Amino acid sequence: MNNTEEVILTGLRSNNNLHLGNYLGGLLPIIDIAKTRSQNTQINLFVPDLHSFTTPIDHSKLYESTINNIKYFVAAGLPLNNPNTYIYRQSRIPAHSELAWILECFTGFGELSRMIEFKEKSNNLGVDHVGVGLFNYPVLMAADILLYDAQYVPVGEDQRQHLEFTREIAKRMNAKFNNLFVIPESTKRHQQKFTRDQEPRIKDLADPSKKMSKSNQSARGIIYLSDSPEDARKKIMSAETDSVGIINYDKDKQPGISNLLDIKAHLLGKEITEVVYEYKDSTNYADLKKDVADVVANFLEEFQANLDKIDVDAILDWLENSEKSMNEAANSKLQEVHKAIGLRQ
Ligand code: TRP
Repeated sequence: MNNTEEVILTGLRSNNNLHLGNYLGGLLPIIDIAKTRSQNTQINLFVPDLHSFTTPIDHSKLYESTINNIKYFVAAGLPLNNPNTYIYRQSRIPAHSELAWILECFTGFGELSRMIEFKEKSNNLGVDHVGVGLFNYPVLMAADILLYDAQYVPVGEDQRQHLEFTREIAKRMNAKFNNLFVIPESTKRHQQKFTRDQEPRIKDLADPSKKMSKSNQSARGIIYLSDSPEDARKKIMSAETDSVGIINYDKDKQPGISNLLDIKAHLLGKEITEVVYEYKDSTNYADLKKDVADVVANFLEEFQANLDKIDVDAILDWLENSEKSMNEAANSKLQEVHKAIGLRQ
């Protein structure tokens, strides 16, 4: 590893049941970054497994779901042993937890209380079930980033506030202890750098005013990557549309139709304008649905076949190699922090 190299880092959130929205909005943009930028950039992709139980989970499935998560990335096209790419489990690098503790002592209770994700998730749980880990987790996220001097941290919109917090705590520590950390770039600079990677926002098929999300009430509007092609087809055919009667890309007035067009364009890797043009002046919603159903069914068949072929041992080897290098990098940063705050000389 070369210290002058730029570092792009992001967390591959552990999730048992990925859907099409995760795939197009989360997995593909990251895989694209790994494929196109690894020549002159260090890429850190890690599974934030210590973050996966800030809210209650089934712990008997945790280990497997971490490995599954990586399997999904590989099935979606992440090349194994990509140069300059490190993939690791957060729990295997103890420095994350230790730096989190240290940063917590410089973090205000008030600033964490303002985190929108905390407010939303804790509201859903009820006070008696809100763990302190849920409250503190942005600090662990800051440690994930600052340990590796990452400049770029591509994340979805819901994580921007945590990235802002990371910048704040890094600046605070730098002011107090003499430039300890690299400050990640601002959201604006991220948008400039990753313009091509703009994530599409896939909507729920049954209620296209909402994002496709596994927390939505029913599974009718969600295409899971584990759905059978037949089930997926049915979900597309019964997608909610509108009564406008013409196929237009207009997210405000025709969110359902626009969503179907988006799904087709992104799965085929086409420009949205090109796909819209294919339906120019068309009034037949059923034709569009059938086309999208075909595209989605083909995609699922291919994806599931890839998944079946994956060599888990190769993934485990890759993880172990990366974890070794990343422990070295993280421990050396942690030593600097120890010195700065007076734990070592
Ligand atoms: N909190 C992120 C999410 O929920 C995952 C994550 C954890 C992460 N640590 C990170 C993302 C560090 C980027 C950098 O999606």
